[in-house]
Amino acid sequence: MNQVQLPFSTVITAEELKGFTHYEERKLSDMKGYFADEEARAAMEQSADQVVYQVYRVEVPPEEGELLHCLTVIQPGQVAGECFMTKGHYHLNEKCAEIYVGVKGKGVLLMQKGQEVRTIEMRENTAAYIPAGWGHRTINVSADQPFVFFSVWPGHSGYDYQRAVEEPFVKRVYLRPDGYEVK
Ligand code: F6R
Ligand code: ZN
Repeated sequence: MNQVQLPFSTVITAEELKGFTHYEERKLSDMKGYFADEEARAAMEQSADQVVYQVYRVEVPPEEGELLHCLTVIQPGQVAGECFMTKGHYHLNEKCAEIYVGVKGKGVLLMQKGQEVRTIEMRENTAAYIPAGWGHRTINVSADQPFVFFSVWPGHSGYDYQRAVEEPFVKRVYLRPDGYEVK
């Protein structure tokens, strides 16, 4: 039976989702194999196992009719020039789209469906639409500021992280002196 959901709110800030009930962080040690230069990632992890990104979310039943939502903070940093990023995933339910809204900083939303790849540059107040069926990953392209965004997606989306490992994103994002490069 569905859990009774009463109205509630949280407060989006540039640092966290005030009122969050669940917190997760991904450190360099959680990102084995995700960056192109695995040796560089392992060496960085040895000297300091930095936090790459943090996720603040509210518990909502993962069921059709509900809307899951969270705030992601990607720290500035690079592994051999490749910008810090999320692991990225597909949703198990290929009929579920998602919306990301930029809160602070500068990022790139990388999306992939089969051989088709799209990117959207995100800043504060950018509302980006991820169509159903597209794999998605976000990347912080600022040299020194966190990239923060809010996400909303259907409760029955499910997650498929393995697919993003088996069919890796074909583009990567590198920090450059004059900005960033997607290649
Ligand atoms: C949820 C979603 C985002 C990400 C978050 C962390 O569907 O796309 O909220 O979950 O930005 O990224 P991942 O989940 O790829 O570690
Ligand atoms: Zn998603």
